[in-house]
Parts: sequence; structure tokens; C-alpha cells
Amino acid sequence: MTEQIATNVHWHHGEISRADRYRVLGQKGATLWFTGFSGSGKSTVAVALEAELLKRGRISYRLDGDNIRLGINKNLGFSAADRTENIRRIGEIAKLFTDAGVIALSSFISPYRADRDAVRALHAESGMDFIEIYVDCPLEEAEKRDPKGLYKKARAGQIKNFTGIDDPYEAPNAPELVLKTAEMSLQQEVDAVLALMTQRGLILDV
Ligand code: ADX
Repeated sequence: MTEQIATNVHWHHGEISRADRYRVLGQKGATLWFTGFSGSGKSTVAVALEAELLKRGRISYRLDGDNIRLGINKNLGFSAADRTENIRRIGEIAKLFTDAGVIALSSFISPYRADRDAVRALHAESGMDFIEIYVDCPLEEAEKRDPKGLYKKARAGQIKNFTGIDDPYEAPNAPELVLKTAEMSLQQEVDAVLALMTQRGLILDV
């Protein structure tokens, strides 16, 4: 739990509600949280899903590990504490997007179960939808793909604390969805996410 440092600060309520925003936008906000190894396919499915949602008149926004680490989280590295802070900040940002009425597609390794559960709790306590999607790709397969050549560097000892090589990954115990990306086509993955969203009432007109 991150300590609250500022004192004498209080939540300031506005005059319109989340429901008002959802109604005007004609959609519900939600956070879809993709977790898995680097190279597992998190960003690939998020990119394809974003396009499919747009075709259905739904606005989503991708929050992606590398992109966020080039901006708001540029001061964080890959120590356990920095990864926890990375996920905490993204969790808060995803929650703001969801509250605003946008579907947040978060793709981060997010290797620690406790950090992901904290984001889940953050959404739950505000009555917001949080869907954890385990992008389940065997390490050997992710390493074979090695889209950024980082596994090769990690094996050569040029990158320390690389997830799966010399840093841990804790798979979710009860994700809402599992995508076995070494066995499924991209279209099947997107269809599976859309089916779950439909079942949860997340693509319905508000
Ligand atoms: S997380 O662990 O804090 O969730 P995040 O998803 O933001 O990680 O960033 C992971 C991306 O950073 C990887 O896809 C990879 O491109 C890059 N990266 C650089 N160094 C590391 C490392 N030591 N471990 C994992 N990923 C790394």
C-alpha cells in the first residue's frame, strides 16, 4: 500500500456523475488488463482489439509498457519496487480512463500478483469493471519470437533482472480470460475478448 503523503487533501466531487458521462458517450468505461511475458502478445492483441472496438463504435485507449515508460514512468526501472510503482500508477490511470468512459487496454508484464490484485481492488471499490486477461505464452515461445532482441541480450547477461530469465513472473490464479497465444490465431484471441466483453455488458449501448 503506497503511503498518502499529502495531508489536508479531500476528494472534490463534481456535478455530473460517471453514469452521465457514459450516457453521453454511449458506452461504458472498463479496464482490460493484459498480463504476461515480454513478447507474449499483449500489445498485439490490444492493437487488434482497439481496431475492432472502433468498428463497433467503441472508444478504447491503449496503455502500453514501453510507451508509458517513455513518458509518465520514465523515472522507473525494473527493480521490484519500480515495477510495483509502474503498475500502481498505470492502475490509477486506467481507473481514470474507466471513470471517464473510455475502455482502457493496459498491456504490461505486471509480474506480481499482489500489484495486479491491488489494481483490481482499486477498481472494485469504485464500482468499475476490471478484467484480467492472462496472455499465456510459454517462455520458450516468447524467447523464440524475441521481437526486440531483449531475451538474447538477457541470456548474454547484458540485461539484468529480465522477466522470465532472472526475474519472476507470477501467473494469475483466477483471471477472467486466458489467451494461449502460441495456440490461437490473433482473430481467435480478439473474438474471445469481444465475447467476454459482450457477456459482461461492456459493448452494449448505454
Ligand atoms: S513491468 O514488469 O513493470 O510490468 P513493463 O510492461 O512496464 O514491465 O515493461 C516491459 C517492457 O520493457 C518489455 O516488453 C521490454 O521491452 C522492456 N524491458 C527492458 N528491460 C526489461 C526487464 N529487465 N524486464 C522486463 N522487460 C524489460
